[in-house]
Amino acid sequence: MDSASSRLRTLDLTAIQALAGPDMAAVDTLIRRRLASDVVLVNQIGEHIVAAGGKRLRPMLLLLAARALGHAGADAHQLAAVIEFIHTATLLHDDVVDESDLRRGRKTANALWGNAPSVLVGDFLYSRSFQLMVELDRIEVMRILADTTNAIAEGEVLQLLHVRNPDTDEAAYLRVIERKTAVLFAAATRLGALLAGADAGMQQRFHDYGMALGYAFQIADDVLDYSADEADLGKHLGDDLAEGKATLPLIHAIAHSPAEIAARLREVVENGDASALPEVLAAINATSGLEYSRARANEYADAAERALEGLEDNDGVAALRGLAHYAVDRKS
Ligand code: IPE
Ligand code: IPE
Ligand code: MG
Ligand code: MG
Repeated sequence: MDSASSRLRTLDLTAIQALAGPDMAAVDTLIRRRLASDVVLVNQIGEHIVAAGGKRLRPMLLLLAARALGHAGADAHQLAAVIEFIHTATLLHDDVVDESDLRRGRKTANALWGNAPSVLVGDFLYSRSFQLMVELDRIEVMRILADTTNAIAEGEVLQLLHVRNPDTDEAAYLRVIERKTAVLFAAATRLGALLAGADAGMQQRFHDYGMALGYAFQIADDVLDYSADEADLGKHLGDDLAEGKATLPLIHAIAHSPAEIAARLREVVENGDASALPEVLAAINATSGLEYSRARANEYADAAERALEGLEDNDGVAALRGLAHYAVDRKS
């Protein structure tokens, strides 16, 4: 690290939450208020997933990006709520597709109410986010969010095409996570910059920060699926394997295990065989698959930090630097 970068300040999570706290409280109020519907089941399912909390990382990123460029206000609260509604809609849909039954420490909506209500309430949240977005009446905001939600849908379909495919390699994996996860982080931080009145070049830097952070976040999520404490994570471990989803730790193990073990891992992916989890973990450990994946995630976190180089060093920027590393080091 050179002397210039070693002087850069980084806030830890507690300091970041204190900094963003008042804005996040306003966003929470807005989310609760705009969740409402006169259709009872919409309220029940919406409340179920929203009241469980979640880290609220994406709306926080939008607020901090705006703050890094000196902006705060009602428009940032509104767009932060939009981003969290979109995220929540994707979770309702994702848990149906992945047949997951635990999320945010609670039984999933699909486990409690079934697939059809979960998909339909996911659609409600998506379209509610569009209503909130349109209220801002800014065509550039609408363009970014239309492109983003479209890319997320493509990412989920692309991932589906790789399910139970043992030939899924790192490049294919990265193409999926860019769309299913990173683009929403990139939109959040770009929108924060846009609201602050940033020019195209500065918006691009915040976009690049969010994109790199999103990659780091999803790779870390895929490491946690093999290594977290289930109570901390609030999701079941081994969900990815059970779905036949080859994520980076397993992709690395398949590529670097002796032929006989690699053949067995390929068979496990083809069958989505959850009972093979101990065997798969042994192969991942033998090939240092978690360490390799964490190192890749850290490279993306470093790239995120680099995208902010040269910005005026204020609390917002220091918080964004902190979040780049939180995305990788988190336990849940
Ligand atoms: C879960 O996102 C989906 C992924 C992209 C891995 P989060 O881990 O941000 O979910 P919540 O909102 O905190 O529950
Ligand atoms: C979630 O991917 C990505 C989106 C919701 C678009 P995952 O399936 O890996 O996330 P979790 O582990 O269920 O939260
Ligand atoms: Mg999932
Ligand atoms: Mg996961």
